[in-house]
Amino acid sequence: MAAEKVYRASTTAPVNIAVVKYWGKRDAKLNLPTNSSLSVTLSQSDLRTLTTASCSASYPASEGDSLLLNGEPSDVSGARTQACFRELRARRAALEAADPSLPKLSTMPLRLVSENNFPTAAGLASSAAGFAALVRAIADLYELPASPSELSLIARQGSGSACRSLFGGYVAWRMGEAADGSDSMADQVAEAKHWPDMRALILVVSAAKKGVSSTSGMQQTVATSGLFQERIAKVVPENMARMEKAIKERDFEAFAEVTMRDSNSFHATCADTYPPIFYMNDVSRAAIRAVETINQAAGRTVAAYTFDAGPNAVIYYLEKDTEAVVGTFFHVLGGAIDGWKDSVIKGLKPTVSLDEG
Ligand code: ADP
Ligand code: DP6
Ligand code: CO
Repeated sequence: MAAEKVYRASTTAPVNIAVVKYWGKRDAKLNLPTNSSLSVTLSQSDLRTLTTASCSASYPASEGDSLLLNGEPSDVSGARTQACFRELRARRAALEAADPSLPKLSTMPLRLVSENNFPTAAGLASSAAGFAALVRAIADLYELPASPSELSLIARQGSGSACRSLFGGYVAWRMGEAADGSDSMADQVAEAKHWPDMRALILVVSAAKKGVSSTSGMQQTVATSGLFQERIAKVVPENMARMEKAIKERDFEAFAEVTMRDSNSFHATCADTYPPIFYMNDVSRAAIRAVETINQAAGRTVAAYTFDAGPNAVIYYLEKDTEAVVGTFFHVLGGAIDGWKDSVIKGLKPTVSLDEG
């Protein structure tokens, strides 16, 4: 028997770190958010997912679709991964129906091999880079003529934050209104080169897997926090408007204030969840105090902290203040925190290296 051809495509996708956070689902099945959110896509030269998708008629149907994540078999039977596969296969099947000369890739088992070069499930947006890469790798394998917006719509169903990693620069995820989620996807607010001196410092406080996943944490918050209602009704809509204006005007002071206030607001709703959820730890709080020390010493706002669902800090600052920010972080935290010297500290440039549509 002739060896069956193996079709293959590889892609990388970057992490994005929200400055106005997504936290809450209004529809868990379609993965629709309770609020819009806004993030900065970081450079792929530091934190990225690399995913290879392949399919072949020689892959045993009995083994089904599979994912090897960081060298370990990972479950793909979850509804959200299945939704991504289903959406992508349906688009490939439509191409095959229109052109019978195309190989029937949509009927073949899929094998995915993925690697994150940064901690997985530790609050550094691995699900964002991970699902963005998964969706793009399969779309490339299937040679789909899909725009970043369309891929964003599919990636959202894998992990909400993933819809923003299909774009570079400054990216908004509009919550949308449609019951079927057809208008809930990301768009680019500004290219990275609009504000090219923006930098992000990643402080890896802990690479351990978080105790409460984002998916489960936000569902507990929606169900039990009163403060959360105030956040989605008032705080986030105001922060979204202020943040878009700050980015358009390259107003770092405003960008920083909204970033820090929104991170504080999000973690306050976690503390208001019953039972409470704590993602930040003592080192995270020391990083917040360090930012305040840096800003006070400078007599202006030169640094802004934000924390996702984990203890790791992301500090945004402008290139000209590198010395003040990076230098002070080493000085302030280096001596004071046990084990700090083993932590990773990285300066990242946001990038537009992914397709921008
Ligand atoms: P994080 O803060 O890292 O985004 P989450 O709790 O949101 O943490 O999501 C972590 C989960 O995302 C992992 O347990 C895994 O299921 C999924 N994930 C992470 N990386 C990848 C990847 N490269 N490919 C596919 N899925 C991934
Ligand atoms: C705190 O996108 O990981 O990082 O949609 O359930 O996969 P799921 O959640 P996920 O949540 C991210 C939460 C956040 C804020 C943000 O990235 O906007
Ligand atoms: Co995540």
